[in-house]
Amino acid sequence: MKHKTAVYRREHFNAAHRLFNPALSADENAALFGKCSYPNYHGHNYEVVLKVVGEINPVTGFVVDTKHLSDLMKEHVLEKFDHRNLNLDTNEFKTLIPTAENIAMVIHQLISPHLAPNLDLTVILYETERNYVEYPA
Ligand code: NI
Repeated sequence: MKHKTAVYRREHFNAAHRLFNPALSADENAALFGKCSYPNYHGHNYEVVLKVVGEINPVTGFVVDTKHLSDLMKEHVLEKFDHRNLNLDTNEFKTLIPTAENIAMVIHQLISPHLAPNLDLTVILYETERNYVEYPA
């Protein structure tokens, strides 16, 4: 069996958000989300790592061209999310709570249709240096 190789591309965006579930009361939201639920939003410097696993293409020597990954992120993610308010400015989070978990899942949904089907995509999203998530796990 051939070994596979993982290729990583890191990108960055800034965005504001608020964690809030409209099905819950103000007190329940405050208890659940704390400062993250303050009504006037707050910002994060998000770091996104795309991990792409596949076999090395003998013609190019690449699993995937990192320039292609960078272009996909710019077109499908950064244009939508960078310097935006995720709750107010994006269709993706009109009804979905913009937690790191959900943001990573949405980025996966936005990028994976544009990758060759023999490549496996994982999205690692850092909301802070200490808090990060991986989708799918
Ligand atoms: Ni936050």
